[in-house]
Amino acid sequence: MIIETLEKLIQPAFTNCGYECDCSVIESNRPELCDYQCDNSFKLAKIYHQSPAVIANAVVEKIKQIENIDYYFEKIEFANPGFINFTLNNEFINNCLEKMTNEENFGLKTGAPKTYFLDYGGPNIAKPLHVGHLRSAIVGESVKRILNFGGNNTVCDVHLGDYGLQIGEVIYGLKEKNLKPTDITLELLDTLYPEMSARCKEDESLKEACATITKDLQDGNEEYREYWKVICEISGNDIKRLYEYLDVSFDLWEGESSAYKYLPMLFDKYKKEGKLVVSDGAYVIPVTKDTDAKELPPLIFRKSNGAYLYGSTDVATIYERLNNYKIDNFLYFTDLRQGLHFEQVFRSCEILGIASRDKFEFCGFGTVNGTDGKPFKTRAGNSPKLDGLFKQVKEVLVESKDTLASASEQDLDILVNSIIKFADLQNNRERDYIFDIEKFSKISGKTGPYILYTYLRLNKILQLEDCSCLKYSNTQVNKSERELKIQLLTLGKNFNKAQEEKMPSYICDYIYNVCNYANTFYENNRIKAEKNTEVKNNWLALIQTTTKILKSMLNLLVIDIPSVM
Ligand code: ARG
Repeated sequence: MIIETLEKLIQPAFTNCGYECDCSVIESNRPELCDYQCDNSFKLAKIYHQSPAVIANAVVEKIKQIENIDYYFEKIEFANPGFINFTLNNEFINNCLEKMTNEENFGLKTGAPKTYFLDYGGPNIAKPLHVGHLRSAIVGESVKRILNFGGNNTVCDVHLGDYGLQIGEVIYGLKEKNLKPTDITLELLDTLYPEMSARCKEDESLKEACATITKDLQDGNEEYREYWKVICEISGNDIKRLYEYLDVSFDLWEGESSAYKYLPMLFDKYKKEGKLVVSDGAYVIPVTKDTDAKELPPLIFRKSNGAYLYGSTDVATIYERLNNYKIDNFLYFTDLRQGLHFEQVFRSCEILGIASRDKFEFCGFGTVNGTDGKPFKTRAGNSPKLDGLFKQVKEVLVESKDTLASASEQDLDILVNSIIKFADLQNNRERDYIFDIEKFSKISGKTGPYILYTYLRLNKILQLEDCSCLKYSNTQVNKSERELKIQLLTLGKNFNKAQEEKMPSYICDYIYNVCNYANTFYENNRIKAEKNTEVKNNWLALIQTTTKILKSMLNLLVIDIPSVM
């Protein structure tokens, strides 16, 4: 990575001047002046009681004496009151780009790969998926791809909600209508769950009856199990179809129910070890610490009626996962509102001796709002089924551009995906965002279609040319070309941040900036008509690197490339 190369290069200058520090190089915040800068002299000034100017000037002189320094920098300058500014040498830029282009995964693989367990998706059987589940699927899938691209290993579980109250409600409704497991259809489930859920909200005793069915099912009631299996199969297939549309996949298709086989054994074990505390007949794990600003409620491991809960299944699932895999870190992708739940779960795991707290990371996300500022709803109404959302986006898209009327279904689906995913992933995931279909369907602005349009535009040039032996050269480097090159070189920094913070937005920002510079470059240079082959090949090499990077980064954002737009 370029920043590390530069830091390693200039570090001896500080040491030789007698300053002890880990020097750091950053991208320039005044690109019109330089490409990179180093601000260490400000901190050193306090330690060595010298002015930043004295320090920076001394270091500049020492940097200039470094062997072969001209290969890296065209200019090394002191700037008031204590900055060191660097302008890269064009030959060095080209060599970096060439190396990046040819290295596996652009040289982004980490030296110390880890194995991550990712829990994302989290749909609930028999309930329609909502936009919150969409976010979990998209962010989780993207982070998985980023981690793998960085050379890590991942194991992913969809973690279905397949054993909750909604199952008891649906079974109650089916039995009430005298329907057998063989009568269940998807259409039936789509109407039955909302109907039963509404009734249970009104009628406490009905809710109790449904809760009892759920508990009996968990305890192995044969009749209920027959219903449950069919409900899971039908609803599960529908969920799989949606994930296929989104190109989201999982290694494990497990759920809350998968954890039940461990629960009685774990309950006995932890009870014997004295780790469970009795509270009103329930068995709980106190998790709060003196340092907590607000007391954290205990995790309820087993209710007084013997039922296990969401928290107990999560603990047992972690126990199972660690039994089956060697895992370094667990990542959970849900709505931020589940943050408290996961904190209870993670602390419980530490208390029970399953895994230490620092193995877990909660990757929460905010709410998707509509243009009215309230949680997003489709035209069709309240709890939007995702199919309706995809359809609505497709309609807006086709209305927005005439040429798309004749596009293939496949290309339209790719574009719909790009709209939804780029709108989502470009945000810091912890923030709420407004999903404005009109805005995110446009071919201009920070949108998926804009990125894809730019990619296709650049790729078209390559298709018309002989690209078998392109080579970068530094004859007549012009401004727009140089700016694009400098932008491309920030890949490493952005990728690493996305990976460390589990934040795909860094990659969105990066490719959006690359596209802006690439379009300016395209518009300012007559690439096709260029007579000088050396110049032309250099430009084509640049386009080749750009498209190669864009394509890989789009893949990390779970966005495919359409054949035409
Ligand atoms: N089914 C849950 C929901 O709809 C999400 C599951 C998240 N994963 C987990 N291991 N608890 O909110």
